[in-house]
Amino acid sequence: MRKKIVAGNWKMNNNLSETINLINDLKIQIYKNNVKVMIAPAFTFLHDAVKQIDGFDIEVISQNINNNSSGAYTGEVSAEMLKSIGVNTTLIGHSERRAYYNEDDELLLNKLKYSIECGMNVIFCFGEELSDRKSQNHFTVVKNQLDNTVMKVDKSSWKKIILAYEPVWAIGTGETASAEQAQEMHEFVRKCISESFGEEISNNVSILYGGSVKPNNASEIFSKKDVDGGLIGGAALNASDFSKIVESNR
Ligand code: 13P
Repeated sequence: MRKKIVAGNWKMNNNLSETINLINDLKIQIYKNNVKVMIAPAFTFLHDAVKQIDGFDIEVISQNINNNSSGAYTGEVSAEMLKSIGVNTTLIGHSERRAYYNEDDELLLNKLKYSIECGMNVIFCFGEELSDRKSQNHFTVVKNQLDNTVMKVDKSSWKKIILAYEPVWAIGTGETASAEQAQEMHEFVRKCISESFGEEISNNVSILYGGSVKPNNASEIFSKKDVDGGLIGGAALNASDFSKIVESNR
């Protein structure tokens, strides 16, 4: 059985008091069901967030990670540091990291392998740009991104991997992929995984959709058979919207 997941990527938003307030609101508003809920505040507040969650069933995760264990890497954060504060899952490969910080497939593969070696779980993000979709190259682009990264790990790593399809043109634009477009890509990705790693792994990996998921479109997107949940940006900054999205994933 695949896990249903809704994860909130807070990106570079919220100061300390806003972080604590949003967590407190989520603790009141999130209705417990069979969905795994995750939130990714800024690095600065991860430790406060873990303490504030205080046993409540929401996992605090990080937005990024370095691919080295320690040393002279100014401004970076390691798996060991994250684990020492109780953060055991990280995003890797978000399109904003790829676009603004030049994170290429080679680096992302290093981050992925190293994180898993350190015992972290990974939400690995991928997705095509608008020009790729307009030129009908979206499947090729996605396959390439996957072939260069997650397809290069060994079979045993897959129990630590969650995938997140985030078409770049749908992120923060208010223009979401249709439920059919999401399903079509998720089915394609599952087929690629099956071809390389077999059906058991492809059937068990959760694939999330991200890109302008809101309370009014979440249920339709999550109703598709290969969509196991969402990675939410803007709407995750509002407790009421995020809780409604969590409830949509039944
Ligand atoms: P939005 O939900 O704001 O489009 O962001 C999606 C995203 O990038 C989540 O990682």
